[in-house]
Amino acid sequence: MPVDFLTSVFFDGPEIIPYWDEIKHYGPTVIPIISTIAGLKYYFRGSTNIWERDLHGKVYIITGGTSGIGQQIVNELGHRGAQLILLARNTNDLWLAEYIEDLRDGLNNNLIYAEQCNLSSLYSIRKFATKWLDNQPPRRLDGVICCAAECIPRGKQRVNTVDGVESHIAINYLANYHLLTLLEPSLKVQPPDRDVRVLIATCSSINLSDKIDSDLLWEKKQYPSQQPWKIYGYSKLLVGLFAKEFQNRLDQYERKDKSPCNIRVNLVNPGLVRTPSTRRFISMGSILGLFLYLLFFPIWWLFLKSVFQGAQSFYFGIMAPIIMKIEGGQIIQECKIQTKVRKEFDDAVLQKEVFDKTEKLIAEIEKKSAINRKKIELQTKTKEELIKEEQRKKNLNVKPETNEELEYKLQ
Ligand SMILES: NC(=O)c1ccc[n+]([C@@H]2O[C@H](COP(=O)([O-])OP(=O)(O)OC[C@H]3O[C@@H](n4cnc5c(N)ncnc54)[C@H](OP(=O)(O)O)[C@@H]3O)[C@@H](O)[C@H]2O)c1
Repeated sequence: MPVDFLTSVFFDGPEIIPYWDEIKHYGPTVIPIISTIAGLKYYFRGSTNIWERDLHGKVYIITGGTSGIGQQIVNELGHRGAQLILLARNTNDLWLAEYIEDLRDGLNNNLIYAEQCNLSSLYSIRKFATKWLDNQPPRRLDGVICCAAECIPRGKQRVNTVDGVESHIAINYLANYHLLTLLEPSLKVQPPDRDVRVLIATCSSINLSDKIDSDLLWEKKQYPSQQPWKIYGYSKLLVGLFAKEFQNRLDQYERKDKSPCNIRVNLVNPGLVRTPSTRRFISMGSILGLFLYLLFFPIWWLFLKSVFQGAQSFYFGIMAPIIMKIEGGQIIQECKIQTKVRKEFDDAVLQKEVFDKTEKLIAEIEKKSAINRKKIELQTKTKEELIKEEQRKKNLNVKPETNEELEYKLQ
């Protein structure tokens, strides 16, 4: 058919093309516009992962799997048969139950679960990690994908978590630090022939961040409500330095079987993606902003990636064989390893300093939060409940529920 048509055009002239007069009239203006749009769309879609990997039987923990890029990754890995444990802030949520059910049905994969782990609470993270580590024999773990993040729009006030930490720093940095360091024994115990890949989402906003200073958790500095990308970028820079030092420590660990380190911790920069957090950021969390966002949607459609495109570098991080052949602590962007990075990424002394300092800060925060929790608990409990609990605590025939109780009984 196209050959017939082209032959006719060749012999009878272009006048036989339908709407030839309109094409002749508007073509010189419209064709360059369409070509430019197509060119821009093609360019901004970014790179596509070309690697394939059978994920049946593999187990991944993923944060932020309920929205945006994380949700896309869950779909892809679930489709490939991986067992997925989504860390969600509230497992009693009806929406979450339906979401997991839909995923299982849609992907024909019953190995998708949600576990309670609110990343804005260090205690919640510890509870999840303790439960995970309690499994005997240790559970299989092929990777941890850290996609969850906090991104507060411009003009909003500082938000603190239950631990009293600024929420960008708490969720984008401390939560990843705490989760991964607590899961470290589970990562290390995996057999030597297993690739264990940890991916942490990063962002180009690290280039907008100021240098790391002594006020690591932004306790004394004023919250930059007019330039929130500064604190967002700072939190991403901190988590980047953590990834480098964490990898360094994993590399130094000597396995009992003397095999080399089989864990790679890398950062992934997805580029600018149309996700709920981007929409909230652009619309500045207001109805008018949302209206403007929708009005200018063609611009976002043209210049921002879809979640499918944004997830490609994560797939590269999970599937590309090269990841296990080179050192960890890399930044993956556009399905490539970035070579031009901020100079802090080459500063091993700073990375160690930040890691050690954060360890101490987390211990202090956890202690303070435990005291606060206890106070609130005591205020809300009735006298009868307290007596019952005390009896249970003292009774050596009852299995202790917390580390605190265990210590009490041992004493
Ligand atoms: N979008 C971009 O343009 C872009 C650019 C560069 C880097 N990134 C990075 O890519 C990652 C994914 O971004 P995204 O835009 O796809 O994010 P998103 O759509 O806003 O999703 C954020 C996810 O984090 C979860 N989360 C937030 N706070 C949590 C908490 N306290 N406990 C548990 N989960 C929590 C959310 O859970 P709920 O569903 O419960 O809210 C949600 O699943 C982020 O790390 C982001 O920094 C994104």
